[in-house]
Amino acid sequence: MKQSGVPRSEIFLTTKLWNNSHHPDDVEKALDASLKNLGTDYVDLYLMHWPSPFARSDELFPRDDKEKIKPGDTDYVDTWKAMEKAQKTGKAKAIGISNFSKAELDRLLKEGNVVRFLHPTPPFSGNNNHIAKTPTPQVPAAHQMELHPYLQQKDFVKYHATKGIHVTQYSPFGNSNPIYSKGENMGKLIDDPVLADVGKKHGKTGAQVALAWGIAQGHTVIPKSKTESRIKANLEGDFKLSDEDMDKIAAADKKLRFNDPSENFHWK
Ligand SMILES: NC(=O)c1ccc[n+]([C@@H]2O[C@H](COP(=O)([O-])OP(=O)(O)OC[C@H]3O[C@@H](n4cnc5c(N)ncnc54)[C@H](OP(=O)(O)O)[C@@H]3O)[C@@H](O)[C@H]2O)c1
Repeated sequence: MKQSGVPRSEIFLTTKLWNNSHHPDDVEKALDASLKNLGTDYVDLYLMHWPSPFARSDELFPRDDKEKIKPGDTDYVDTWKAMEKAQKTGKAKAIGISNFSKAELDRLLKEGNVVRFLHPTPPFSGNNNHIAKTPTPQVPAAHQMELHPYLQQKDFVKYHATKGIHVTQYSPFGNSNPIYSKGENMGKLIDDPVLADVGKKHGKTGAQVALAWGIAQGHTVIPKSKTESRIKANLEGDFKLSDEDMDKIAAADKKLRFNDPSENFHWK
């Protein structure tokens, strides 16, 4: 960030709370450690990486003598409440979640009980009658989840809109991440004939179409590349798809999740 010369205020910086620091007493310390590593005094968005806790540890992956990950017993709702507390220090401008199921998100919405604001409800008038008298729990500002044309999660995506939760698509290129063994023996999402066909019309690649598909839905897309030419090409993935293009891509859904460590994490 410093080398770029771009002022910190113009950079949107997100980091995540890892599973070994879910205990409420560890949350702010973990955030402090991230701020120190990043050389900044605040992040714009702080996410709970997974709902699943590991045992409290300095190790990122605490293991038992059989080399299995040691699960923890902190309830993610308590972790969330600690994140809400940490946010009040100003070290995180906004807080959110990552990799939550609908049931897990619902529990958070119901039980995360720190009151931040009161919902304005119509009709609006000159007095305070429009301020609801019932305090409402804060919703996560954003949910970062695996989302791409092979895992479209249409209903879940709509659900986020009804709750006012912004969606961030990770692994926007699906099985391009080389650590995803599940997608090894099939064609790459970015080479999918439907994406290639839609791209041809716009003079774009399948990868760029995958990004445009997320942007068309109002999502943030976070492609990763260490290759300069690809980083530049990915910035050109911000273009407009037609309704017809969107319908074609909708039909390419395979409901395929490539990143599912739940068994490893002992999370059911
Ligand atoms: N919240 C979570 O649990 C979670 C999980 C996974 C990922 N993420 C985040 O999501 C972001 C990206 O996800 P990801 O790395 O899994 O997947 P991705 O961005 O969908 O795919 C990355 C792979 O695609 C290649 N690639 C990038 N641009 C390309 C292009 N234009 N054409 C062809 N290949 C291209 C990259 O290769 P090169 O680098 O060799 O160019 C890399 O192998 C990261 O910021 C990551 O931190 C979050």
